[in-house]
Amino acid sequence: MTSTHVIPDWFDERLRGELLAHHSKNSHENGYFVYQLDTLKDHLLQLQQQDVIKLWFAVKANPLSKIIQTLDSAGFNFDVASAGELEQVLAQGVSPQRILNTGPAKSKVQITSFIKQGVNIFVAESLNQLFWLNEAALENNVKPQVLLRVQLQWPEGEKNPLGGNSLTPFGLSVAEWQSIQVVDFQQLDICGLHIFQWGNMLSNEKMFLLWSQMIVPLTELANNIGMRLKILDLGGGLGIDYLQQGNNLSWQKIVADLAVIKERAGVEELWLELGRFAVAECGYYVVPVVDRKVNYQQEQLVLAAGINHLLRPAITDQPFPAMLLRESEKSLHAFDIHGPLCTSMDKLGQLPLPEDTTVGDSIVFGFSGAYGFTESMPFFLCHSLAAEYVYSQGELTEVRSAQPATWYLK
Ligand SMILES: Cc1ncc(COP(=O)(O)O)c(C=O)c1O
Repeated sequence: MTSTHVIPDWFDERLRGELLAHHSKNSHENGYFVYQLDTLKDHLLQLQQQDVIKLWFAVKANPLSKIIQTLDSAGFNFDVASAGELEQVLAQGVSPQRILNTGPAKSKVQITSFIKQGVNIFVAESLNQLFWLNEAALENNVKPQVLLRVQLQWPEGEKNPLGGNSLTPFGLSVAEWQSIQVVDFQQLDICGLHIFQWGNMLSNEKMFLLWSQMIVPLTELANNIGMRLKILDLGGGLGIDYLQQGNNLSWQKIVADLAVIKERAGVEELWLELGRFAVAECGYYVVPVVDRKVNYQQEQLVLAAGINHLLRPAITDQPFPAMLLRESEKSLHAFDIHGPLCTSMDKLGQLPLPEDTTVGDSIVFGFSGAYGFTESMPFFLCHSLAAEYVYSQGELTEVRSAQPATWYLK
């Protein structure tokens, strides 16, 4: 394999010294996340250089206070999917008027509580949710904006860019939504449709094809239920090239494509709730190597933490790209990279690292700013929780310290 001299373009070389010094002073940490706030800010401002799309941040991707604050200053609004996410966003001083609530598990109690806290935009994912929203709005004398979440399926054999028609609890079919009439929900401003049923899309052409195919069924649905379709929310799904295969989406092309979709659908507003496309790139996960061995001719590394801090590779079969933190001139070798849990699922991938990678070194995983800390399974085997740091204006600041198991065990 080629020499390690080439620094991967997802890594900011300016952090290397800082992280090496950090590692030598914090040996109790089994792994930590670092988010580069200045890089994030620049990226978000670039996403905002357009007037076609109203941007929301899907908080599930990374609910850390400093991340939310950075998105807030860049003019993003917030999509929350639980009471915890709502509390966290409000705690950063964001107005509830800039928050929308998605998710298939909204109870009447939760809807009422959100309304009482000032949330005024909801994505209804079931008929029950719609009835409960109407009741809660009446009880609290408000008239929230409501988008109906639609789940489409394509006829068998027809070209479907999603590659499948798996049934999920996210939203309802057109047929189910057609059982209602907007006029029957006087306490709601039902003014839009929401559709999002794909993940990590990496082709502009496929996304455009997918969005284009949605226009007819969605506009027909709106007509059939007496809705003036003012808002179309296309969710998230904009991908990150975790496998480093050169499949990067062009934001300019997305903006141009969505301008076409917006016009064809005849809507006033087009919304996206970005998760990974907003924050993945700004984050690294750094973790020490605790063992190295050869097993059946395969080089294996065992890390101090694995899917207890970074679950995504186990559920998607896609590793995050990795590099050795220190510099090495040695050529690259394919290592199986495992974590400490007693399951074969605890594998962060088979990835190229310098031949001399050894016990005590640190490995850096890229694109870990999204679906990292809060998506993982931190309690299994009673390891410490990951620490979280931000890096801004040349300074590394701890936001969450690495908590030992005694902190959460009772
Ligand atoms: C309703 C909703 N919107 C947006 C997102 C963000 O998706 P992504 O990270 O692919 O942008 C999600 C992710 O699950 C979601 O459930």
